[in-house]
Amino acid sequence: MEKPLIVANWKATKTIEETNNWVQGIKNNLENITFAQIVICAPYICLSTLANLFKDTNLKIGSQDVSRFEKGAYTGEITAEMLGGLVQYCLVGHSERRKNFGETDKDVNSKIQNLAKFQIKPIVCISEESQVESLKEVGEFVDTVVYEPIFAIGTNRPDTPENASKMAQIIKNFLANSVKVIYGGSVDQTNIGNFISESEIDGVLPGRSSWKAENFLTMIENLRTSMVD
Ligand code: PGA
Repeated sequence: MEKPLIVANWKATKTIEETNNWVQGIKNNLENITFAQIVICAPYICLSTLANLFKDTNLKIGSQDVSRFEKGAYTGEITAEMLGGLVQYCLVGHSERRKNFGETDKDVNSKIQNLAKFQIKPIVCISEESQVESLKEVGEFVDTVVYEPIFAIGTNRPDTPENASKMAQIIKNFLANSVKVIYGGSVDQTNIGNFISESEIDGVLPGRSSWKAENFLTMIENLRTSMVD
């Protein structure tokens, strides 16, 4: 079995100073983690700080979005080309972006195509089955799909590992068995092991549980314990 993929989604919560503090809080514990692949998806302004702090560690960095445009007169946009070499992963189509910024399935597909040109792995978020179907044309570029039902995000009401596993199977059947499928929505230190122990689920995407260094560490420690049990 591949190492579980743990994708921390910091959302809009950190300044550069807070990023420094978070990394100081975890660095000695996390850099030796060999049983999981950890990816921190941070606000754009924190990415180069994180890249420096994580140099020579096995932690990876992701952005939380990318422009649907390639380059040009699009004031304020951050393109895949700009992120190339800085991040290894990028979240695409998070439900908060679809809801608050009107992001469409078409935008999501353009972003995936742009990322592929710069060897950045797209982590594509979907909350329902119809969104998987819209990925058909770009399926070959998708590295990871996050199943994150809306009712479970930010609510402390996670989906069941069994349902998440069924959805993972549907996604793999539709796209490719090699695509990774992870679960997001109220993942925390008490339930992380239950999701990871489902064979179809390749990892998790914690939001709030990743915001404080000590909570994140406890969650990762619980994951380790659940993997040796
Ligand atoms: P949460 O966020 O862990 O705070 O529920 C999950 C998500 O962003 O998908």
